[in-house]
Amino acid sequence: MSELRAKFETAGQGHVFAWWDELGERARRRLTRQLEAVDLSRLPEMLAAVEALKSPRARNLSPAPTYALGDETFPYALDDAARALAPQGEKELRDGRVGVLLVAGGQGTRLGFDGPKGCYPILPLTGMTLFEVFARKLLRVGREYGRTPPLYVMVGRHNEAATRNFWEDHDWFGLCPEDVQFFAQGEMPALDDDGKLVMSGKDALFSGPDGHGGVVQALHRQGLTADMRRRGIRTISYLQVDNLQTPVADPAFIGLHLGEGAEVSLKVVRKQDPNERVGVFCHDDGVPCIVEYSEFSEQQAREQSEDGRLRYWQGSIAVHLFSTDFLARLGDRNIDLPLHAARKKVPSVTDPDPAAPNAWKFERFVFDVIPLANHVVCLEVPREEQFLPVKDADGPFGPDGVRQSYQDYFGRGVERVLGKKPPGLEVDPGVSENARELIDWLKDNRNAKHWDLEAPLHITDASTDKA
Ligand code: UD1
Repeated sequence: MSELRAKFETAGQGHVFAWWDELGERARRRLTRQLEAVDLSRLPEMLAAVEALKSPRARNLSPAPTYALGDETFPYALDDAARALAPQGEKELRDGRVGVLLVAGGQGTRLGFDGPKGCYPILPLTGMTLFEVFARKLLRVGREYGRTPPLYVMVGRHNEAATRNFWEDHDWFGLCPEDVQFFAQGEMPALDDDGKLVMSGKDALFSGPDGHGGVVQALHRQGLTADMRRRGIRTISYLQVDNLQTPVADPAFIGLHLGEGAEVSLKVVRKQDPNERVGVFCHDDGVPCIVEYSEFSEQQAREQSEDGRLRYWQGSIAVHLFSTDFLARLGDRNIDLPLHAARKKVPSVTDPDPAAPNAWKFERFVFDVIPLANHVVCLEVPREEQFLPVKDADGPFGPDGVRQSYQDYFGRGVERVLGKKPPGLEVDPGVSENARELIDWLKDNRNAKHWDLEAPLHITDASTDKA
């Protein structure tokens, strides 16, 4: 005990024992356990992250090469090179060499939803949850290629039990339980303006999720990178649970990644306007990276190229492929991604419900692996088809806005084949992930039944009289 106290005092953090004398036996044990887990050698890195936020370093940015869309009009087409390499991705899926990594550490707080974000009921007619949407997409990949990629789900400590229970209550949505593995990301403490660790109670240090970048070390520590290798998985498809429209395992993307021998690949969409709040894929001093929108100057964000379009147009949709060897290398070498500081409201023992941001929280970002990779490939995808994240309570990225965009997009597919948009629409993710596939499916099934387009239409495998 005295050793622990001395350690914190030497680091200028002796205040964490301020209420020690008031605490009972159990509370003292709890606090001791928590303090023992704190890595005080991280303090200089945390303070440096605060300084970096206050005075960002100058960057030397330039646009980065990207495989742009082959057809920018509905129902869109990817670049020819990517489409030509799709068979290689399909083979990888048939050989069972692809795994899916879903990060779901976030709560639905910004949505006004009290629970893990993945449990949010999003689809417009049935209220299917985000988790089920992803599970049904995986099942479809399994039917198509004969192998269902194993799923790794990263959760936060605060939502781990709720997430596991939800999947268990729903019988893993038809997936094989041995192929669905949950793992918890790490946590980081917060600092106040004097560089002191924030106490959330007299017997508790504040600690919050360490960001999606915590995934690299969390996979390694919990033996999951080794599990991937044991299963013969070469490529990991990384997805964020909030993006309803992302394919779980896209053969063209996988084919391009393998064909190019990339260690990391990413998908981007063309930014809608210069100030859109997405990270931008570009080069910094010639090294590929993602730069957050907040680090772009107004002038830089507005710069145009000769064709009059944005010079920095590649908005990251946070969809990546990682080679398993690359993840294992980062894990083995204990490589931590850089810390980023953010000014946030942090409940503390002196102010349990702060009205304004009062402290610094710290996160690692998964896209900081990009500069560490030997080769990086970037593919543009159609926004409508692959980027529809549920982020906020209202607006275009609120649930209503998302449902509207979803129905408009798939409605265009229905209209193209059946001549009219129905007043409401849901497409089972097990039938089709995008309007291109839906158009083909409807063409095959056009005459299989009478399609009533005056009422909301729910398209499932059972929607045809043939089924
Ligand atoms: C993120 C990206 C941004 C990108 C955009 C696309 C960052 C800093 N920025 O923004 O470049 O253009 O997505 O949608 O990420 N998560 C965890 N654990 C954590 C934190 C987050 O699992 O500790 C998960 C969340 O459950 C969510 C996802 O990561 O699925 C995204 O996190 P969020 O903080 O909402 O990112 P954005 O700020 O929207």
